[in-house]
Amino acid sequence: MSEPIDLAAFPHDFAWGVATSAYQIEGAVAEDGRAPSIWDTFSHTPGRTAGGDHGDVACDHYHRWPEDIALMRRLGIGTYRMSLAWPRVVPGGDGPVNSAGLDFYDRLVDALLAAGITPSVTVYHWDLPQTLQDRGGWTERDTAEHLAAYASVVAERLGDRVTQWATLNEPLCSAWIGHLEGRMAPGLTDLTAAVRASYHLLLAHGLATQAIRAAAPAARVGLVTNHSTVEPASSRPQDIAAAARADGHTNRWWLDPVYGRGFPTDMRELYGVDLPERPGDPAAIAAPLDWHGLNYYFPVTVADDPEGPVPHAREIRLPDVPRTGMDWQIGADGLEALLLRLTDDYGVRRLYVTENGSAFPDRVGPDGTVDDPERTHYLEQHLAACARALRKGAPLAGYYVWSLLDNFEWAYGYDKRFGLVHVDYPTQRRTIKASGHRYAGLIRAHRQATAVG
Ligand code: FCB
Repeated sequence: MSEPIDLAAFPHDFAWGVATSAYQIEGAVAEDGRAPSIWDTFSHTPGRTAGGDHGDVACDHYHRWPEDIALMRRLGIGTYRMSLAWPRVVPGGDGPVNSAGLDFYDRLVDALLAAGITPSVTVYHWDLPQTLQDRGGWTERDTAEHLAAYASVVAERLGDRVTQWATLNEPLCSAWIGHLEGRMAPGLTDLTAAVRASYHLLLAHGLATQAIRAAAPAARVGLVTNHSTVEPASSRPQDIAAAARADGHTNRWWLDPVYGRGFPTDMRELYGVDLPERPGDPAAIAAPLDWHGLNYYFPVTVADDPEGPVPHAREIRLPDVPRTGMDWQIGADGLEALLLRLTDDYGVRRLYVTENGSAFPDRVGPDGTVDDPERTHYLEQHLAACARALRKGAPLAGYYVWSLLDNFEWAYGYDKRFGLVHVDYPTQRRTIKASGHRYAGLIRAHRQATAVG
C-alpha cells in the first residue's frame, strides 16, 4: 500500500540524496598506500562480525565508482553523502599525507560534479587508523588533534569543489557501541574509556570545524548525530526516570554540549567519570554550525533496569509493532518529533536527514527484479514524516536514504541489506530495487511539481 506524501511541503531546492561510507563500500583495503583501520582489525578478529565478514572487497566501489555514479544518475539523485577514509589519506593517523589516497577522492568529486551530483563529505565515519588506536585511540586527546589535522588536509584539497562538510558520523556509536557495549570497533567494554572517547570525539568535531573553515572558506560545516525518541514502558515513576536517563545517554549527551549547554549534569553524575576538560574546550565543542545532520532509524521504549549497564534502562520489545530486518521498531513519528526537537529546543536553523533507511532480506527474482515493498513503505512513511515536520516549521533542506547500495553492515556483515540498489557480492552485479525506482519517481514528481515556469 502506498503512503500519501505531501510533496508540496518540500522546498523547491530540497536536496534528494543517498548516503554511503568509505569502509562499507570501498574495499581495496591494501591498495595505493591505504593502511589498516580499527575496522580492518575488528572485522578480522574471530567472532566479532557475523560470518567473519569484513570490508576487504565490500562493494568494490574503489574500482567501480563510475558505475555507482551512473546508478545515481539513473535514480535522479541530486546529492551524495560519502565519507573519506582517514587511513587512505593519512595512513599513519598523523604524519605523511598519501597523495594516492587524496587523488582517489579528487577524481570521485570531479566525476560527481560532472554528473550533476553535489557531494556531501563526512570526514570521519568510524575508520580510525589502527596506529592511532595502538596509541589509545579516542580515549586520548591527541586523537582529536590528529583528526583536525587530517580534516585540514582534505578540506584544503577538496574544498574548492566540496562545500558541504560533516566532521563526524554518529559519535554515539563510536563511543557507546565501540567502547562501552563492545559491538563495534575497537570493541571495548569500559565506561571510563567510553566517556573519555565521547568527550574527545566532540572535541575532535569542534577542532575539525575550525580546521575545515580555515582551509576552505566556502565550507558549510555540520555534525551528523543519530538519535531515537525514548518512551517509558509504563507510567511508573521508575520507568519515567529510566526514559529520562536513556534520553540523556542517546540524545542530550550529544546535543547539549554542541548547542552550548555543556554536558548534562545528571548524566555526568550517572557516569561518574571525570571529563578530560580544558579551558576553551566548551567553546570549541559548541562552535556555531551551518547545519545539523540527523540519522534516524527507530524509536525506543525503555523500562527501569537498576542492575543493568548505564543508563540502567532496558529496551522493551513492544508486541505487534512492525520491525525491519534489523529487528528495529518502525516508527516514523519519531523522525518528525526529533526534527522538531532539533528545531524548537536546540534552535537548529538548517537540517538534513543524513541517514534513514531499512534492511530487509531482499532477493533478485527470477525475472531479474528486486521487489522490496517493505522498504518502499518505510521510505514513504518517513518522507511523509519529513513533510509533516516541514509543515510545522522544521528547516529541513535535504534527505539522504541509507543506503545507495547494499554494503558491509558493520558487525552484521553482508547479511543486512539497506540498499536502494541490490548488490550480488560474488559478481558485484548491481540491480535497482523497486524502492529505488519509487524514490526516483518521487524525486521526479517533486521536481516537476516545483519546476519554475
Ligand atoms: C548507521 C551508520 C551507517 C549504517 C546505518 C545502518 O548507524 O551510520 O554506517 O550502518 O547505521
